[in-house]
Amino acid sequence: MTPLPPLRIGEYTIPVPILQGGMGVRVSAHRLAAAVANEGGVGIIAAVALSLASRYYEKGRDYYRANVKALIEELETARALSPNGIIGVNCMVAIRDFEAMVRTSVENGAQMIVSGAGLPLRLPEFATSNPRTALVPIISSLRAAKLLAKRWHKLYKRLPDAMVFEDPNRAGGHLGVKTASQLFAKEYDTDTVVPELAEWSRTEYGDEIPIVTAGGVWDRHDIDHALSLGAKGVQMASRFICTFECDAHDRFKQAFIDAKEGDVVIVDSPAGLPGRALKTSFTNTLLRGGEVATNCIATCLEACRCREEKETFCIALALHRAQQGDLENGLVFTGSNATRHTGLVHVRDIFQELLYGIPVRPVPIPG
Ligand SMILES: Cc1cc2nc3c(=O)[nH]c(=O)nc-3n(C[C@H](O)[C@H](O)[C@H](O)COP(=O)(O)O)c2cc1C
Repeated sequence: MTPLPPLRIGEYTIPVPILQGGMGVRVSAHRLAAAVANEGGVGIIAAVALSLASRYYEKGRDYYRANVKALIEELETARALSPNGIIGVNCMVAIRDFEAMVRTSVENGAQMIVSGAGLPLRLPEFATSNPRTALVPIISSLRAAKLLAKRWHKLYKRLPDAMVFEDPNRAGGHLGVKTASQLFAKEYDTDTVVPELAEWSRTEYGDEIPIVTAGGVWDRHDIDHALSLGAKGVQMASRFICTFECDAHDRFKQAFIDAKEGDVVIVDSPAGLPGRALKTSFTNTLLRGGEVATNCIATCLEACRCREEKETFCIALALHRAQQGDLENGLVFTGSNATRHTGLVHVRDIFQELLYGIPVRPVPIPG
């Protein structure tokens, strides 16, 4: 296999051009992030609602303070497990403590902030305490990329250190389109948008903004295809779920191993965005229009139909329950590749397969 080229983002040279996608509510926390960083990719801790499964959170109280403490702890633990790796934090614009999560990350040694679920127009303003932290917005169109780069340059004299393009028809979690009907539009497809972005970065910025593509990247063929479109790297999330190191409960991982064709559904998130999820009892009830928990536990989102209109469901609670293994009442976010998991593997095995073609040997979840 030909070697993969390293990826340069800001002042960091990433030996293997793979960012592990942030997976919120503690699906990607210190263990997964450190394991990926140790293999030469970028390990990403997702900042959203870290507190819920932490020792700092008392039900109904201190949600925001606990998030800060939990994030500091996750960063310290990841750093201890991967002293030489590159560790970043995923901070979503749509959450109320976005600014606090960015500031805390930057002050506590995050080498990269990856930020989406809205356009991170003010991100540089919150990251001034360490100019070495690379800032990487997630976008889903050339229009958004142009607007953001222009705005950052005008207001902050700074350009994004890279951009992640997330294909809404393949990625997991919240998807960067307003309605489910836009998911299949060609204008948001990887094969359309990545070459446009690469050309724009080359002609306008002399390739200073490397494009990283996300959504549906699973094997070496997908990575080679992404690079052939002009991307300089890929972001992969779902592939890392069924690993020993993924921070979610084993029942969460088992749901992926059990998933069959047709088990991936689109739900309306209270954040006002479509989300891709595994079919569970929870999504069955939701899609039937039945009753699911609407008690807001965290006031986590800037705009939330659950908190404001008592509609849909409490997303923090649903995602937290799934991460803890309660699949009956929990929401399991997934990318479009959910059914490709057949067992548990180590993060190292995935990298060995991607770099050298050594086949992974998935095993059943112990116990
Ligand atoms: C379980 C899960 C949780 C996710 N949570 C977040 C998140 O908190 N913030 C975010 O920006 N993206 C989130 N995503 C999107 C991923 O970071 C990633 O960009 C996308 O899923 C890539 O597609 P793939 O899963 O096919 O590799 C999540 C995805 C999954 C599967």
